[in-house]
Amino acid sequence: MSPPRGTVLSNVNTRQKPSPNGLFLLHDYMDKFVIRGGKPLKGRIEISGAKNSALPCLAATLLTPETVTLHNVPYVKDLITQRRLLEDLGATVLTPELRTHKVTAKNIQTYEAPYELVKTMRASVLALGPLLSRFGKAKVSLPGGCAIGTRPIDLHLKAFEKLGAEVSLESGDVVATAPKGRLVGADVQFEKVTVTGTENVMMAAVLAAGKTTIRNAAREPEIEDLADLLIKMGARLTGAGTDTIEIEGVEGLGGAEHSIIPDRIETGTFIVAAAITGGELEVSKCEPEHIAAVIEQLERVGVEIEQLDESTLKVRQGGDGLKASDVTTEPHPLFPTDMQAQYMALMTQAEGTSTITETIFENRFMHASELIRMGADIAISGNQAVVRGPSKLTGARVIASDLRASASLVLAGLCASGETTIDRVYHIDRGYETIVRKFKSVGADIERLTEHGAGGRET
Ligand code: EPZ
Repeated sequence: MSPPRGTVLSNVNTRQKPSPNGLFLLHDYMDKFVIRGGKPLKGRIEISGAKNSALPCLAATLLTPETVTLHNVPYVKDLITQRRLLEDLGATVLTPELRTHKVTAKNIQTYEAPYELVKTMRASVLALGPLLSRFGKAKVSLPGGCAIGTRPIDLHLKAFEKLGAEVSLESGDVVATAPKGRLVGADVQFEKVTVTGTENVMMAAVLAAGKTTIRNAAREPEIEDLADLLIKMGARLTGAGTDTIEIEGVEGLGGAEHSIIPDRIETGTFIVAAAITGGELEVSKCEPEHIAAVIEQLERVGVEIEQLDESTLKVRQGGDGLKASDVTTEPHPLFPTDMQAQYMALMTQAEGTSTITETIFENRFMHASELIRMGADIAISGNQAVVRGPSKLTGARVIASDLRASASLVLAGLCASGETTIDRVYHIDRGYETIVRKFKSVGADIERLTEHGAGGRET
């Protein structure tokens, strides 16, 4: 149901109500999901591009006046916001295909990411590095906390200061300038592993004078994907994917063409969906290597995961059922925090007691109380959740609090008896592309209720 080929999405004002096909109104704050559970999922699911790679890659287009073409950009709310930010800054964004963005940041008019945008998507801070790097100035509203934690950006700002920037906070905005008009390479040691912090400093350092070394860098696949794009644009960068990244600044960067990696968290979510419903799915267009720790943990609890080819997994619950197993979230390549909520839903169906330890965000158990409302046995103390299973989940009205929490409630609803209604699903639209349509295509009884009634949009 994509728009006719050649529709230039930049003609569509992202602020106005959508076209009749409803595709452009990705979500409405009133939308709910209604799920009738108990049906084993069967079929093939195609994984979309990675939200957490497309966001920094789109920000990187600000580093050059030439056109950068990105393919496999997921059609999710956060990317619409990021596109809007680029257009507000003065870039043109053409989308010959729904998931292809041709960005040309030739006539940048302003260096400011406004509060209205940053408050809806904290990843807007990724504009700081490229604007500071190319124009020597940037102003970005300081993101507030979010449901999962306070999420400061102090490490980003300290690193920019290391590169010679002057950084101040003015009425809620971060104002950063490069006094000499250009940043200067430096040795940056992160006290804590930070994903967007590493990405912001990579983008700041590629046009800085001299060499930058980033130590204790994040090693997520999204970091490597951004590095691949930057290198295609002419950057001199090595070590992405390791904890030490080295960058030799260059005078300028050019255009490039790049395809965004598959979304590893969406992949993990659908593997859990097959296991929790007792179904069997083929998960295609994914990159198994990027979720090795998740696959290892799921196999440990009894999920059968067979690699059919380099980008397709066949997944189902093993014959002996699910066994409880402890897990601790850590930076990549260990078990990702973005899979914690989905894993908790699965553990409610596993035989025995599992302890889930969340080490990345201080408030990422909001989904637990909703799962308990459905009949799960979960006890929270500090950064640990103790789950006893298996529990027979029954449908209930529940509220989504953040992106991954909403995914875990959908998974619970798919295996619960009866009907589950999930409010505030706008959270899930931020990071999962056409999730209702994908689940329906493999036999799930799920629909989106809008304020206009049921099924208006099968996204
Ligand atoms: C990225 O967030 C992802 N978002 C998150 O995914 C993911 O959960 C997170 O990395 C961890 O893997 C994007 O890539 C857009 P961090 P980010 O900086 O970069 C603390 C999802 O569900 N910290 O690695 O914001 C911070 O508070 C989202 O898709 C500081 O103290 O996370 C946290 O405790 C949710 N100061 C820890 O470090 C800083 O300056 C790791 O955060 C920066 C971070």
